[in-house]
Amino acid sequence: MIRNKIQDWLRKNKVEGRLEHPADKKFGDFSVRTGSEVKLTNSDLVDKVEFVAGFTNIYLSPEVLIDRAQKIKDGKFKKDLARGKNKTMVIDYSAPNIAKAFGIGHLRSTNIGQAIYNLYEILGWKCIGDNHLGDWGTQFGKLIVAIKKWGKTAVDRMTVEDLEKLYVKFHQEAKKDENLVGEGRNWFLKLEKGDTEAKSIWQKCVEISLKEFNKIYDLLGVKIDYAYGESFYEDKMPAVVEMLVNKNLIKESQGAKIVEFKNMPPAMVEKSNGTTTYFTRDLATIKYRVETWNPDLMIYEIGADQSLHCRQLFETAKKLGFTNDFYHVAHGLIRWEGGKFSTRKGETIHLSEVIDRAMEEAKKIAPNNSQEQIKAVAIGAIKFNDLAQDPKKDIVFDWQRVMSMEGNSGPYLQYTYARCVSVMAKKKLDVRNKKPEKENWNEEEMNLLREFYKFEEKIVEAADRFAPSVLAEYLLNLARSYNEFYAKNRIIGEKEEANRLFLTESTASILKQGLELLGIETVKKM
Ligand code: ARG
Repeated sequence: MIRNKIQDWLRKNKVEGRLEHPADKKFGDFSVRTGSEVKLTNSDLVDKVEFVAGFTNIYLSPEVLIDRAQKIKDGKFKKDLARGKNKTMVIDYSAPNIAKAFGIGHLRSTNIGQAIYNLYEILGWKCIGDNHLGDWGTQFGKLIVAIKKWGKTAVDRMTVEDLEKLYVKFHQEAKKDENLVGEGRNWFLKLEKGDTEAKSIWQKCVEISLKEFNKIYDLLGVKIDYAYGESFYEDKMPAVVEMLVNKNLIKESQGAKIVEFKNMPPAMVEKSNGTTTYFTRDLATIKYRVETWNPDLMIYEIGADQSLHCRQLFETAKKLGFTNDFYHVAHGLIRWEGGKFSTRKGETIHLSEVIDRAMEEAKKIAPNNSQEQIKAVAIGAIKFNDLAQDPKKDIVFDWQRVMSMEGNSGPYLQYTYARCVSVMAKKKLDVRNKKPEKENWNEEEMNLLREFYKFEEKIVEAADRFAPSVLAEYLLNLARSYNEFYAKNRIIGEKEEANRLFLTESTASILKQGLELLGIETVKKM
């Protein structure tokens, strides 16, 4: 990667300090604050060095820029990038809850989680994705009570929506009848003890929900390696509780078992009636993952509202002797713009409605495309909206912005890609093998040429910071540079045709590869 080579070269010249890309390209490709002018040895990579106002500005040579673009364009850069050799990571993402609709928060987790997976994979890590489905817990006791009391059809005939309504009804009724909560607890206890009726109702709820979720994963084009889910750990909890006991980490508190921390509230390991908790299942999950894959890194893509849970979990894991690295990608909330685009059902936004709406919007901007392509635009727009923004920040879901062809959107990138493809389709055979020249690039051409090599460093930075938005932002910059170039330069039939086609092909290839990493499809026309 060029950045590392420049860094090494500077280090050899005893120059330390952070390498930046100057915001204005007239100050070079890299700059480093040196305070005073420094003497540097020659480098093949570098065309010239200038010292301006405390900064040493470095200009890469066009030859290097062209060579690197060529490698990236042809996909021949991956083995240089492979930094995760012999390293393994497990990423926990998506994780919707059984008997509840797949929410917009789970969509965010799915999109960001899958992009992080892809980024680590291209860096040579062995990646394992696990969908930690919410398929166990006290809520199933409540649900069973509600199904038995108010279910209008047999469970097999219910939809996820029916189940969700029954669950809501349970809470409404529980306000009037205090016995209900106790009944719910009992049914969960029965479920944990293996009661056949409880198990069979639960099993059906799981099947109904998975059918729905799988439809969504198909639409999103996401395939998660494993979906063990919380229930998988049902029989694996005593062992982890025993570990806690052996390390003296368990305290009794009003009949329940808890773990205490110095700077955080306690976490519940076992409730007073002996049933287990979300926390315990997560601990058992860590133990299982370590025994099965012994990952170097465990990533959790879960909403920021579970930050405390994650901190308690990671600290307990450390105390139990797990030395693996843990990281919580705590994504922010999704807020809904105005009220005018909110959905029929009011507060909870159901993903299927969002997808339907995106399809409608996509049809407007790409009316001549096939159904398949419209789907790619719609899904791409939704995904890009999640990925282009810092995962930590709350995001506003604003249809105008999500689908905008000019703005920072998925359709804008897909549109730019399609533009490149249509240029490439016009190229004549005789220029096909013509190499770009090393000189005489005009300003827009040069600006674009100077974007390509950054693809590699942005992949690395996005993975290191667990922020696909770093890559997304880069792709937007690239597309903008291309469109500026395109607005001012004719391509086909000009004497610079070979150069300009090279720029077009490089842009197309990076957009395609970059979008692929983000889990977004490209379309050939739009
Ligand atoms: N099902 C949970 C929820 O919807 C998320 C699970 C995240 N993963 C985990 N290992 N706790 O809130």
